[in-house]
Amino acid sequence: MESIIKPNYSIFFGNNGYVKLLELINKNNYDKILILSDSNTSKYCLPILKDQLFSSDSKSNNDIENKTFSYTVNSGEQTKNLNELKKICEFLISNGFKRNSLIINLGGGMVSDLGGFVSSIYMRGIDFVNIPTSLLGMVDASIGGKTGIDLNDLKNIIGSFEFAKIIIIDLNFLSTLPIRQLNSGFAEMIKHSLIDSEKHWNKISSVNFSKDVDSSLIYNSIITKIKIIENDPKESSSRKFLNFGHTIGHAIESFLLNSDREILHGEAILIGIILESYLSQKLLNFDTQLTLNIKNYILKFSKQIDFSEEDIKHVTEFLKYDKKNTSDEPLFVLLNEIGKPCYDNKVSNKEIIEAFKFYAV
Ligand SMILES: NC(=O)c1ccc[n+]([C@@H]2O[C@H](COP(=O)([O-])OP(=O)(O)OC[C@H]3O[C@@H](n4cnc5c(N)ncnc54)[C@H](O)[C@@H]3O)[C@@H](O)[C@H]2O)c1
Repeated sequence: MESIIKPNYSIFFGNNGYVKLLELINKNNYDKILILSDSNTSKYCLPILKDQLFSSDSKSNNDIENKTFSYTVNSGEQTKNLNELKKICEFLISNGFKRNSLIINLGGGMVSDLGGFVSSIYMRGIDFVNIPTSLLGMVDASIGGKTGIDLNDLKNIIGSFEFAKIIIIDLNFLSTLPIRQLNSGFAEMIKHSLIDSEKHWNKISSVNFSKDVDSSLIYNSIITKIKIIENDPKESSSRKFLNFGHTIGHAIESFLLNSDREILHGEAILIGIILESYLSQKLLNFDTQLTLNIKNYILKFSKQIDFSEEDIKHVTEFLKYDKKNTSDEPLFVLLNEIGKPCYDNKVSNKEIIEAFKFYAV
């Protein structure tokens, strides 16, 4: 996979990534380096990273080891908060981190969002590097310059736009990622394919779901995300395409998180993709057979969830609180065709109920 070099950031793949990271560290002569991980990535991924950075006996590697600190937070979304931000900043202050220090975020989207945000505000901004270890992190969260934390039950409500200097994609990390987390990342890859092109969707839908995920699929997904964010970095227009499947998906996620039924973000997005494909067919004449193909492909590999009439009513309530809404009613990204999404579509409650029926049968 060819490196992706942009004015604000670069993405490197495999071992070349570590070579470039060492080059960056030596070029900038950072005075201190922090590796931020969570309780899982410190166990499964930190030893691999340390091996890459400190393994040789050269003077420069010893220097790097001497100025590197590790900080581990608990895994899980509940860690992405103000209190954790404060604790990390206190750790940086007490260990003498300055303007010319570096933070390396080693983890999934939770770690890159939290660590990216700390980096963007500590001393008005220090350099950071993302090393995503989850599939969702690799194809989505580590790329695109959005950082942030949650406040109360509002996700990503405090944040900034700041690019990592370097993003390293090392597929070896995926070997310890639980299958449900792998599927969660694959949901975003399916979404990327549908908003990108028929060719991309045909390629994705021909594999055995996330079990067959490989470097070329990951590369295509990254390229799709980059294409979209480059056209609209601050989400005033076409970056909204990335919300396909997410309007209903987020409402389902919020509803189930408030019940005793547990769901991962990507699992909710898979349902959102099915429902929003149906809405595309209903409102924009999106192809009927493709709508069925999308549903069948996703349901072949993921568990179908039952939604009662009462559940659907609650989900539509949650739709009103979608933070991406600028108007009073929820606005949807729908597909005219595969690769031809459009945003700001209004959908009635009746059509949402029909979409749930389509999902259920
Ligand atoms: N900034 C953005 O543009 C953007 C985009 C999408 C999502 N996000 C954010 O990303 C987060 C979701 O990302 P995620 O799905 O990666 O969640 P996550 O970071 O919580 O990781 C999911 C789980 O997998 C574990 N894990 C990660 N890598 C592992 C590995 N290699 N081996 C074993 N376990 C591993 C983690 O410890 C965690 O338990 C959310 O906070 C979301 O808001 C941000």
